[in-house]
Amino acid sequence: MKVIVTKNYAEMSAVAADMFKGVLTAKKDAVLGLATGSTPEGMYACLVDMYKKGELDFSDVKSVNLDEYYPIKKSDDQSYDFFMRKHLFSHVNMKEENIHLPNGEAADADVEACEYEKLIDSLGGADIQVLGIGRNGHIGFNEPDTYLLADTHLTGLTASTIEANSRFFASEEDVPKHALTMGIGSIFKSKKIVVMASGKEKAEAVKTLLEGKIRTDCPATMLVLHRDCTLVCDEDAYSLVK
Ligand code: F6R
Repeated sequence: MKVIVTKNYAEMSAVAADMFKGVLTAKKDAVLGLATGSTPEGMYACLVDMYKKGELDFSDVKSVNLDEYYPIKKSDDQSYDFFMRKHLFSHVNMKEENIHLPNGEAADADVEACEYEKLIDSLGGADIQVLGIGRNGHIGFNEPDTYLLADTHLTGLTASTIEANSRFFASEEDVPKHALTMGIGSIFKSKKIVVMASGKEKAEAVKTLLEGKIRTDCPATMLVLHRDCTLVCDEDAYSLVK
């Protein structure tokens, strides 16, 4: 795993955005693997800025998002569908038919998960996938457990993740308890992975990730097995690494 340590969140966002720009410049119809949460917001702002300056064109770009709460309406302002439109899709020239997220409104979550995995395969996997990392080491909604799943699936959120995500909701009770998420295998279909981490609350997870031991109680550690994975983190997130 390559590691890039930046001074702060802004620099981390710019470095990750440049990696996306590199892929988009080389391949006009690239498949972007996208994530939500606070971590990539700055990177999306950089990409929107590059687009507005005429440096990027999203007209042939396709996207696959990592995850979505389940069940949730797309129109809910806490849905990941809503988040992506707010931070990226509504600001660039992506075509609606090229935007893909797991469907939080699907009647049958297992069928939806299976269809989503087929979609990832039909796109040939993402050319570049951005990941945030949970305080507990989760990636997507692959939470710490005694085992991890390969394909897209319905999963329960841990108490720690519900508590961490409650900052976006009126109360902890309002946080959905389930999500549809790419599995570790779906994420590994990406040709390139960029993991971003910012702030002291991610320092423990970053430390564990860089110990190089593969542990299902810290799903991010799987990433050391990927052949093109870069961690871009700020000094605070890196602060516990010896
Ligand atoms: C989001 C996702 C999650 C987040 C993680 C970190 O699509 O899959 O794994 O990346 O929970 O969230 P933030 O960035 O809010 O700290």
